Amino acid sequence: MKNISFIAMAAFFYLAACSTEKSDNQQKSVSMKPIDPHSYARPQEVAITHLNWQAVVDFDRQQIKATATYKLDRKVPDAPLVLDVNGLTIHSVSDQDGQPLTYTLGDAQPYMGRPLSIDLHDSTSRVSIAYTTSPQAGALQWLQPQQTAGEKKPFLFTQSEAILCRTWIPIQDSPGIRFTYEARVQVPAGMLALMSATNPRQMSEDGVYTFTMPQPIPAYLMALAVGDIAYEATGPRTGVYAEPSLLKKAAWEFAGMEDKVAAAEQLYGPYRWEVYDLIVLPPSFPFGGMENPRLTFATPTILAGDRSLTSLVAHELAHSWSGNLVTNATWNDFWLNEGFTVYFEQRIMEALFGRDYSEMLATLALQDLKATITDLEAKGQLADTHLKLDLAGRDPDDGMTDIAYNKGYFFLRLLEERFGREAFDTFLKQYFEENAFQSMTTEGFLAYLNEHLFKAQGVPVDEDLYQRWVYGPGLPDDCPQPVSDRFARVDSVLQAWQSGTPIAQLISQEDLFTKKWSTHEWLHFLRHLPDDMTTDQMKELDDYLQFTYSGNAEILAAWFVHVIRHHYEPGYQNLENFLVTVGRRKFLVPLYTELAKTPEGLAMARSIYAKARPNYHYVSVNTIDELLNWSDESRPAS
Ligand code: BES
Ligand code: ZN
Repeated sequence: MKNISFIAMAAFFYLAACSTEKSDNQQKSVSMKPIDPHSYARPQEVAITHLNWQAVVDFDRQQIKATATYKLDRKVPDAPLVLDVNGLTIHSVSDQDGQPLTYTLGDAQPYMGRPLSIDLHDSTSRVSIAYTTSPQAGALQWLQPQQTAGEKKPFLFTQSEAILCRTWIPIQDSPGIRFTYEARVQVPAGMLALMSATNPRQMSEDGVYTFTMPQPIPAYLMALAVGDIAYEATGPRTGVYAEPSLLKKAAWEFAGMEDKVAAAEQLYGPYRWEVYDLIVLPPSFPFGGMENPRLTFATPTILAGDRSLTSLVAHELAHSWSGNLVTNATWNDFWLNEGFTVYFEQRIMEALFGRDYSEMLATLALQDLKATITDLEAKGQLADTHLKLDLAGRDPDDGMTDIAYNKGYFFLRLLEERFGREAFDTFLKQYFEENAFQSMTTEGFLAYLNEHLFKAQGVPVDEDLYQRWVYGPGLPDDCPQPVSDRFARVDSVLQAWQSGTPIAQLISQEDLFTKKWSTHEWLHFLRHLPDDMTTDQMKELDDYLQFTYSGNAEILAAWFVHVIRHHYEPGYQNLENFLVTVGRRKFLVPLYTELAKTPEGLAMARSIYAKARPNYHYVSVNTIDELLNWSDESRPAS
């Protein structure tokens, strides 16, 4: 890989994609799209352009029964429509007149599902598929009432990224393929349904809701949530959805959403999706946030009560440009979604809260990045430390790490530092504007960068920079170094404590009780506690700082790592409660990993996981099963 220039790589991808069209000898303009190794679709032949989705959500059977109708762009006349499906039961396939169409289902492959290939006639302009989802559908999590805040009604939410949309909708499930959609969804009366689309603000009497998404989006942004959900506005363009008992708290926590939209627009141009709302989901949601257009899905673990975790909102909002507007063409280009978004998130936070705030975020990002690189190096997965990934033949979820986020961030920050902020901002604004509603490959981005930043600024193109940062492993030695004075204060407190000053005295000096420290400072503190702490020291910290009882999930998760490492028994019960209620994978992985390091810890992990597993979404289960070598036999006898 080292000796192949990115231009040669680009040529390879372009040729790969163009060959189908050339062999059919079409005179149409050839769209240069890369082949997506994670989709069976052949969009160069037939692409879906619009979806009409009519669905009934059945909580008793834990299934969705639906009809999906597609408008088509037929580029090659005799070619079939090929969709991705995974675990769906297909009842019938018909054309615009209701006439049946013949179809074949290919073999099912793990995580990929199977191709559904539908034969089209000359006259076929639309295709309809009647189908039902399986209760095991990877994207769907069906929650019992006890798993919700209200404990009265069940709840359903989807998580489609990366390739799980195909488990609830037959679709061309590739991020390079965009379509508009409309939907009619029937849910039990007394429940609200929301999608990544125009949304209702209150419940209907009959449980029927209609939606439209007029901007074209890729399949991984298809989303649905159903539950006992209420709405409160936080501004003219923004609002919050949550279960009624959490609504006030959520609206307070996210009161800054309107300002964030304004700050983002100031940086990279108009918000193109009209409305920006956020829904607070039950705690089993496997991610911190998911950038479903018009409606970010968020974990309740960011309801810290002090607005200290709202950089997550900045992150998901930033995806309205990086990701949702200009989309990674394949999952190998994932850094174009996440690296840009981390960069943009920090710019939004800097604009609103100052450089000393965003430098804390950047410092934590560098710590995470170094830890991820060390970990991947230890596992021999060097290629997974490149920005440009090679995930062919693997579940894309396995290769999506912190690298895309934080190495991506530091690469963009390096460009900013090289060209100056003004030039870089102008470049980014133009990039989003000119590529809006399109997908982008890594090679396409680098070519754009050469043209519109390097050449435009009269700077020679720097191939070596790309080889090291984009196509090379590890952390390049020209990585920008964040400087955080606020963390320097934390370091000096830590140092004084380690040299014997009681924490009580340091606390009063620092006046921590007046909440001068943000969550980020506490995280820095917790991450730098010494490896050789005694139980007495753990107890001293806990007595004064009450980490075990913190209401802040980030702080709890960082503290519990020490609870496990230092066998601090007073923390065990809350550790277990945390693992049983919270399904956010970012918290689960470090805690189960730490537990699995010793035989007693592993036994504890297995017994907790047996209780917790039914509460987790498929994506977390998938990861933790592997981490704990979980199979039915490893289940502890109860
Ligand atoms: N798009 C991601 C979540 C995701 C990534 C889902 C890959 C499926 C596959 C989302 O924007 C995200 O990055 N969430 C982070 C939050 C963040 C502030 C870094 C998370 O969930 O922790
Ligand atoms: Zn993201």
